Amino acid sequence: MSKTLGTELSKEVSKRRTFAIISHPDAGKTTLTEKLLLFGGAIRLAGTVKGRKAGKFATSDWMEIEKQRGISVTSSVMQFDYQGKRINILDTPGHQDFSEDTYRTLTAADCAVMLIDSAKGVEAQTKKLFQVCRMRGIPIFTFINKLDREGRDPFELLEELEEVLGIRSYPMNWPIGQGRSLRGVYDRLQSQMELFQGDDHSAIALRPVEGYDDPAVIETAGDDLYPKLREDLELLEVAGDEFDLEKVSRGELTPVFFGSAINNFGVQTFLENFLLLAPEPAPRKSTAGEIDPSESKFSGYVFKIQANMNPAHRDRVAFLRIVSGKFSRGMAVKHVRVGKEIKLSQPQQFLAQDRDIVEEAFPGDIIGLFDPGIFRIGDTLSERSDIEFDELPTFSPELFSKVVVKNALKHKQYQKGVDQLTEEGTIQVFKTTGFEDTILGVVGQLQFEVFEYRMKNEYNVDIELQRQPYQFARWVVGENVDPGKFRVNSQLCLDKKGNFVALFDSEYAMRAAMEKNPSITFLETAP
Ligand code: G4P
Repeated sequence: MSKTLGTELSKEVSKRRTFAIISHPDAGKTTLTEKLLLFGGAIRLAGTVKGRKAGKFATSDWMEIEKQRGISVTSSVMQFDYQGKRINILDTPGHQDFSEDTYRTLTAADCAVMLIDSAKGVEAQTKKLFQVCRMRGIPIFTFINKLDREGRDPFELLEELEEVLGIRSYPMNWPIGQGRSLRGVYDRLQSQMELFQGDDHSAIALRPVEGYDDPAVIETAGDDLYPKLREDLELLEVAGDEFDLEKVSRGELTPVFFGSAINNFGVQTFLENFLLLAPEPAPRKSTAGEIDPSESKFSGYVFKIQANMNPAHRDRVAFLRIVSGKFSRGMAVKHVRVGKEIKLSQPQQFLAQDRDIVEEAFPGDIIGLFDPGIFRIGDTLSERSDIEFDELPTFSPELFSKVVVKNALKHKQYQKGVDQLTEEGTIQVFKTTGFEDTILGVVGQLQFEVFEYRMKNEYNVDIELQRQPYQFARWVVGENVDPGKFRVNSQLCLDKKGNFVALFDSEYAMRAAMEKNPSITFLETAP
């Protein structure tokens, strides 16, 4: 490697921070994202991040179906600079548009920000997304939002993190009041206060203090709040976890920040602390061992494919996470799976609808590549031909439908569509053992709608989807899998690689099957 490239590369790698925000709908992800982008000035280019209920045009509304529903179907990537760092936020679709893409996007992040509504605590979707992050062992930072509303007791929220998610926490700041009596937060590590100023968001009000005995803290909290504040902070000192960056890095301890995104309160201090603690782009596992970002040879993998981003063209875009080396426009790389060399001439960055052409990019960055149909999820592109990144996990679907083709003459077209849409990761396909019915599995309802829509519009095939009662899928692995044992409230199928997958009506049915088959392993992701 030339010395100049080595220095440039390590400088660029150390600048990058790539993360995703995980939350349940309505916790305030859009609001927080907007505020974060505002610090880097990017929002002025981007307009609003997502279509609001008021009907403002959504920046990521590309597909027709997105427009119809006024939501964003697929995750996009936002980039901004702040205090010398280059930050990539991966958007994780959350509302009705929750899908397997949401999970896959998390595999491209180096850490996650878990956003929680202070009145609601840990909700269903947060739990699912958390588990995917946990599987990867990435650092998780927690922002507890809506402190300006009457919420739950902070201790109760921390307990919930531990009980429901099994993660210990370290509160970086602590609320001085809540709801109508919110006065600020006390920053435990920096020994300062951030004062709540209601609607005035012009500048944040920071006041350095000497510990929580400081007269300024006593005065701000007042007679009504100070005794409790002091008691809480003492309790945290005695009984709380110690701050331990190693544990944070392994995803065992989550730094917790309290704030109110809509009031821009606690957001800037969160961002600054987050940037100090968040990891640089991490290595990724490959057939040639771990590939480090500092390796001079460019490499990356496709984690998501999106069709029809521009309705004027039938193009697909493959999203590539750069793992190592420097990307320059026009460079030639190996498409390892097909063993061909390709030229990356029109890569795009994703911020709003204006898709800028990227001239260069570095590990941690995400680029979008025009895809004439040559990429699959998990594909490796590299200047080396001898590496392939580990396959992305196939996540267990939760909704199932049987497919019936209305016109039997269209069967060939239908098969082509199914093959292609499975490759793109729009749906998973299972064949029942015995009757060989086709069952589609998805994580979110929207995937069915996208499938039906695209079958009709791109392949000219009308289909009927018949919802099935199953709720859980588990890959079953063992010496002698006996289909006879999966007949009650369950269905044994084969996935596209020929692995056995059992679909269950209920958790009860699943537990029963597990008990009946002690020699079999039941996996939540494909083997
Ligand atoms: P999401 O992307 O996670 O689904 O959440 P979003 O940001 O759209 O926020 C959901 C609702 O919560 C919005 O209100 C938003 O204004 C509100 N919100 C976000 N942060 C805070 C906060 O710190 N405090 C309070 N009190 N509310 C907050 P909405 O009425 O549903 O939508 P809108 O009409 O304001 O857009």
